[in-house]
Amino acid sequence: MADLWQSAMDHAVAIARKAGETIREALLNDRKVTTKSSSVDLVTQTDQKVEKMIIQSVKERFPAHRFIGEESVAAGEASNLTTAPTWIIDPIDGTTNFVHAFPFVAVSIGFAVNSQVEFGVVYSCLEDKMYTARRGKGAFCNGEPLQVSDQTDVKQSIIATEFGSSRDPEVVENIFSSLRKILCIPVHGVRGAGTAAVNMCLVASGSVEAYYEIGIHVWDVAAGSLIVTEAGGVLMDVEGKNAKPWLPNTRPVGRNRDATGSNPVSQATKQIVKISKTTLIVFFFPR
Ligand code: IPD
Ligand code: CA
Ligand code: CA
Ligand code: CA
Repeated sequence: MADLWQSAMDHAVAIARKAGETIREALLNDRKVTTKSSSVDLVTQTDQKVEKMIIQSVKERFPAHRFIGEESVAAGEASNLTTAPTWIIDPIDGTTNFVHAFPFVAVSIGFAVNSQVEFGVVYSCLEDKMYTARRGKGAFCNGEPLQVSDQTDVKQSIIATEFGSSRDPEVVENIFSSLRKILCIPVHGVRGAGTAAVNMCLVASGSVEAYYEIGIHVWDVAAGSLIVTEAGGVLMDVEGKNAKPWLPNTRPVGRNRDATGSNPVSQATKQIVKISKTTLIVFFFPR
């Protein structure tokens, strides 16, 4: 089995590189932008084209494998993670960046078997950085080993986050109240690359100490979660428990309120302060 997963990972790296070429060629040329859940939730022909290309290529090589892809789910295809070998694909992570030529755009491919991620590949294609991790074998960027930051004082840290695509005033208010608390710790800075996958690779690289986001999807984090943990980071949910973000719908967390009605954003702030004193973290809250 081990060799089979290695050849699947080699295939993922090759197809991510090819997808990256397609994305680079389409940058500034793909003008057909449409929207999904809201006017700021963008999608382009390139998102759909790249996902089809990846799935087609994997099907030819590994016909028994299953898929969860952002754009296939959007087209109404099922997204349940079973125990079967499953490719979890985000063809363009950072579509808004892609539309605006903001220079962080990634292809994210995670591969799970028995609900465990076996390998993760994130290709930050405009920077030509290929991040890879295989379970138990470390994380790498362009072949160089990655290690999370050894900073344990939150006051000496940069925290990454994203603002999401909801413009609901209550959600936005929650985001900003959390941000205010984090800034006033005070931390050295708050950043966001505009792609969840790249934010996680920045944690793995030690460039930022932590990343948190509410309302993330499995395809945003499946690959990045392994890259972070193989680089020495940990994944936490809002309660500070170990999270398994590659399992879709594992917790009943909505956009800004959890099942008990409390506010995950401010809980995240508390966790950042608490946990970063001892270790490095990345948070997310799967839908
Ligand atoms: C989005 C990006 C963004 C994050 C959103 C994701 P997409 O993915 O990762 O940084 O804030 O939560 O949905 O739609 O560009 O693939
Ligand atoms: Ca999207
Ligand atoms: Ca995404
Ligand atoms: Ca996407």
